[in-house]
Amino acid sequence: MCGIIGVVGSSDTLETLLEGLQRLEYRGYDSAGVALVRQGETWRARVATGTESVAALRIECKNAPGEFHSGIGHTRWATHGAPEAMNAHPHVDCSGNVAIIHNGIIENHGEIQEQLESRGHIFTSVTDSEVLAHLIEEFRDQGLELVEAVRQSLHTVRGAFALAAMDCTEPDVIVAARRISPLVVGTAPGVTYLASDVPAILDRATAFYAVNDDEIVRLGPEGFRAIDLEGSPVRLRQLQIDWDLETAEKGGNDDFMSKEINEQPEAIHATLLDRRRRDGSIIFDELRVSDEELRNVKRVVLVAAGTSHHAALVAKYAIERWARVSVEVDISSEYRYRDPIVEIGTLVIGVSQSGETIDTIQAAREAQRRGARVVAVSNIVDSSLAREADAVIYTRAGLEVSVASTKAFVAQVAALELLALRLAQLRTTMPPEDIDALFLGLNAVSAQVATCLERREHVRDVAKQLLGSHDFFFLGRHVGFPTAMEGALKLKELTYLHAEGYPAGELKHGPLALIEPGVVVVAVATDPAMHEKILSNLAEVKARGASVVAVATDDDEAIEAVADFVLRVPATEPMFTPMVDVVPLQLFAYYMATGLNRNVDRPRNLAKTVTVE
Ligand code: G6P
Repeated sequence: MCGIIGVVGSSDTLETLLEGLQRLEYRGYDSAGVALVRQGETWRARVATGTESVAALRIECKNAPGEFHSGIGHTRWATHGAPEAMNAHPHVDCSGNVAIIHNGIIENHGEIQEQLESRGHIFTSVTDSEVLAHLIEEFRDQGLELVEAVRQSLHTVRGAFALAAMDCTEPDVIVAARRISPLVVGTAPGVTYLASDVPAILDRATAFYAVNDDEIVRLGPEGFRAIDLEGSPVRLRQLQIDWDLETAEKGGNDDFMSKEINEQPEAIHATLLDRRRRDGSIIFDELRVSDEELRNVKRVVLVAAGTSHHAALVAKYAIERWARVSVEVDISSEYRYRDPIVEIGTLVIGVSQSGETIDTIQAAREAQRRGARVVAVSNIVDSSLAREADAVIYTRAGLEVSVASTKAFVAQVAALELLALRLAQLRTTMPPEDIDALFLGLNAVSAQVATCLERREHVRDVAKQLLGSHDFFFLGRHVGFPTAMEGALKLKELTYLHAEGYPAGELKHGPLALIEPGVVVVAVATDPAMHEKILSNLAEVKARGASVVAVATDDDEAIEAVADFVLRVPATEPMFTPMVDVVPLQLFAYYMATGLNRNVDRPRNLAKTVTVE
């Protein structure tokens, strides 16, 4: 995730960009930069300080020369290339005339860069984005207007983007385009804006428009016109914005939690982008462990806390099933105190959204001290865990603000399952066509999650009917068990009600004694292989008076006989179900909490990142 902003026709260009970037910092802050453009001149400033990059950029811009009426700005969340100034946006072409900013990932940047270099282009960064500047340069050299040059360039690139380009030989024009990554356009008399989201330009523009996938917009001081990839004119939909700034930062949602729940399709999509080569091999650019080492792994140990621990539990099933390596999952705070055994070939994976949870960092240190190779799975680039680990895989969920984790969980599961497929590939434990099919299936999960989000009203309804309840058991089997644990954790964190996650088969060994009228049992019942067993478990609790809520697939008719309420989800490959099934459970916890007037973003006694043991 990165943030982009642009303005054309302004008498206050630099301040508009800096202020907007400040509001976009939630999308990343590894580095920041601006390019100001006037006839024949592009002035550029870029800084990379890791955390306060926009503030540092403001200082850097103190010496910006004279009057510029247009410019673009970017705040970066590093994916390709280290968070250093050379990789900060805007990037320029060989002539220095064209400047671009980009949020997203250009999947085929490697091959494009090779071709451009063979034609004499010189690259000055190690980003996927810079190819855009050079591609546009080539089309400009053929005499095309900037908007045409961008349009032609987009026919060459694959991947996701929200981008903006300028050229100082056509100074009062910005061309912006979008595929997957968000982009809005704003207008005010004589000034036109673009941004990743509305808050960045909320107090400057008076009308706002949504740019759709594969649309290109030419912005000038007098307004904008939009075309599609074929060059045909399109109309942008005007957005009804009656938000104040605080609401705007939440993307129009009431709170960060619902914003982040809604961002889950994008989080999964971004985490999976650019992870497979043409020959089918799965790659993690940032993973600095050799194929040889991964092939020879004898045992995997996952260490994590809270929600990340539940993602790690899901990964155990996937790695063992697909890569045939035995996997242990440990709660971080337990691992280092139990004198862990680390043999040659042990791979320890520390899973942490923040990368700053002290228990997980300490567990990773302990493992390293005992000779293990440590891989971090982190959502924050250059987090402590990422820096200390031997290697890292980044989830790309974007900044998570709400204390209770949602989008980071689905992104962690996606990343870890992808790693499981990589291990299976290297260890040849599955036929390549099965791995391909699973990779495609994994990519379809994002749309299935979107379907679950569309059904939020029904979940709200169910939550409303259960508002007076005080005791909840969440049951599941196989990967449904960690999903149930996550559902219970969400409910207790947000509502302060008693909720426990349990393996459904273990019910009869204790918890069944607690089941009586008034208790609510929430069951994850989507795995066909476990279906009959779960139905029997539910029949047992129903017979003892519990109210039953079941998460079940669209085609499951049998569930109606045992459930009082059914939360429907699209069917998916069993190993992918945690990413889909968790969505109604998150929504259930959310609506129970808002029904009880709880602060969903900041539950009592809890913290987003726990840096004490
Ligand atoms: C805290 C947060 C949880 C999070 C856990 C682990 O308890 O409230 O939402 O899952 O820490 O955090 P990490 O950043 O390591 O994933």
